[in-house]
Amino acid sequence: MTGLIERYRDRLPFAAEDPVVTLGEGSTPLVHAPALSQRAGAEVWCKLEGLNPTGSFKDRGMTCAVSAAVREGARAIVCASTGNTAASAAAYAARAGIRCAVIVPDGKIATGKLAQALMHGARVIALRGNFDLALALVRELAASHPIALVNSVNEFRIEGQKTSSFEIAEALDAELDALCIPVGNAGNITAYWRGFDELGQRPRMLGFQAAGAAPLVLGAPVQAPETVASAIRIGNPARWEDAMNAMTASGGEIRAVTDEQILAAYRLLASTEGIFCEPASAASVAGLLVHGAGDAQRVACVLTGHGLKDPQTALGEAGAVVSCEPDRAAVERAVLG
Ligand code: F0G
Repeated sequence: MTGLIERYRDRLPFAAEDPVVTLGEGSTPLVHAPALSQRAGAEVWCKLEGLNPTGSFKDRGMTCAVSAAVREGARAIVCASTGNTAASAAAYAARAGIRCAVIVPDGKIATGKLAQALMHGARVIALRGNFDLALALVRELAASHPIALVNSVNEFRIEGQKTSSFEIAEALDAELDALCIPVGNAGNITAYWRGFDELGQRPRMLGFQAAGAAPLVLGAPVQAPETVASAIRIGNPARWEDAMNAMTASGGEIRAVTDEQILAAYRLLASTEGIFCEPASAASVAGLLVHGAGDAQRVACVLTGHGLKDPQTALGEAGAVVSCEPDRAAVERAVLG
């Protein structure tokens, strides 16, 4: 499988001779979702971004950000993260043979993401503060040291992530009417809109934030954001204006969904569609089910990260295991319930 720089080089800021750091990211499935379609009264597809190499959409941006950093001679990269950016940055840095440091909110990132960042050899710094503070601090750090910042304030991140819109457009035989997407730091909604805009398509951008971390809905930063969807526990998105522009230019909306609504969508996806995403990703589906998509006939929900990232939340939401004595009658009772 070729990576997305090779696949879309003519639409990305990379020349033929530039170094490419890739793990074969992109080309993720766009899966039709019959149960969701029925509930939403529209044709609904899910873009499974959890099937990227490190289990989230961040890899699309990271192949570009790290390739550009290597091109510029960087020896190290840094990011603030609620977990997925950290995992992705760590993997691509390992691949490139450069150093990586990630700053995460202490105790607030999912277990799988922490394991990934550590396994890939990143220096993991647990900040006694939230993501917004971590981002402010790494921006200062990167401004005064020769370290490339790979958060979505980095333009290469947006360029890489816009390729998902290209893939959606290629996979469907007619244009999409609406795109449902979770919004945290607001880089991804910015990227999808850029991708569709470059194609001359204008699906409505329907962005969803967790109710306890919904600055774009409230119109003001949230000092102490809180949500079960730890990936989008963000109170002051860096791409605030770009996200608002994507919303207005596309005739879309940015709305809030509660943790209960997010978890209901999370369970529904797993139990009826066979799709296991992480809680933040389910905000897109929760938003569609709670707020609807107007008169949209063709809707795509972006499922940004894999469910295996956050086993703790899954075990808390799922049914219990059935314990069983090791004999045939007991197994029969256990299986047949
Ligand atoms: N979904 C998941 C699974 C995420 O990890 C993120 C962001 C988002 C949605 C929101 O995307 O920030 O572009 O609006 N995660 C970042 C991180 C902040 O550090 O991993 P966004």
